[in-house]
Amino acid sequence: MVDVKTEGEVETKIETEPCSFSLAHLADLHLTSLDSIKIPQLFNKRILGYCSWRRKRRIVHRREIIDSLVEDLRVTCPDHITVTGDLTHLGLPMEYAEVAKWLPSLGAPNQVTIIPGNHDAYAGKSWFKSCAMWAPYLESDIVLDTHRTADFFPSLRIRGQVALIGLSSARPSPPLFATGALGQKQLAALDTLLETTGDKGLLRIVLIHHPPLPGIVNWRKCLTDSKPFAAVIAKRGAELVLHGHAHTPSIAELQTPSGMIPVVGAPSASELNQQAGRSAKYNIYRLSKTGKAWQLTMSIRGYSEEQGCFISESERSLKLP
Ligand SMILES: [Fe+2]
Ligand SMILES: [Fe+2]
Repeated sequence: MVDVKTEGEVETKIETEPCSFSLAHLADLHLTSLDSIKIPQLFNKRILGYCSWRRKRRIVHRREIIDSLVEDLRVTCPDHITVTGDLTHLGLPMEYAEVAKWLPSLGAPNQVTIIPGNHDAYAGKSWFKSCAMWAPYLESDIVLDTHRTADFFPSLRIRGQVALIGLSSARPSPPLFATGALGQKQLAALDTLLETTGDKGLLRIVLIHHPPLPGIVNWRKCLTDSKPFAAVIAKRGAELVLHGHAHTPSIAELQTPSGMIPVVGAPSASELNQQAGRSAKYNIYRLSKTGKAWQLTMSIRGYSEEQGCFISESERSLKLP
């Protein structure tokens, strides 16, 4: 159940806020450095992850791209920024601390909403404690009943007429797996949140790290409870679902009784890779409302190695349910 103490406040915001909103969507920054790590400090799955990072670090997730990204966001100046997980490589406490130090350069906690990815919950059970270092960027505007007994998720942030609903599919998984799951408790809370925010007439954007539809990543990287997730969305509705994890761009649709919901995957915003579609990009969604209908335009900005900065790549409109 949602704590309704702030219901009046939400209603006031709906009436007074303008009917437009821009949201930058960044994914899979993997921005931390493991240079100072010694292998004996690592156990189990993290050793494999560390070896993979050493092998790929010269071609992917470059710091100068992240600096360029921050500069570009100062120019494009979205109303809000979301990062849909995988800010670290191995989810080590020192990486959480490094990200926590960097986050203010992206924006203030009320302007930036983060959810974790599988790399942020890489191994062991201690990751949730580390997650608290990012609390100002993870937590909800209001206290939900679920937060009293569980964790930060689902989170709810309301900006004007837009509800940002953050989920955590981050779970430690066995070596060579990168699966995720939401769990029954989170899905039940999501059901309530979608109903409540839908009843208030808010445009609902659901943030999740793992792609919630089949065919975007292989079974070793999938969301294991994608079917119950889709059932909740079909039952309560949502207007837009955003994810990361695949490191490639994608636009799909989730079929529901109330219409097709766009499901947009952003590639890594820090990766430099010659493979098609795997160079650093991020999306900006511009939402505007005319009468009762919302319109959505999506702009893609990609990193140009030649120019050493992000540039506009394309723009398209997406149909909302
Ligand atoms: Fe990733
Ligand atoms: Fe991931």
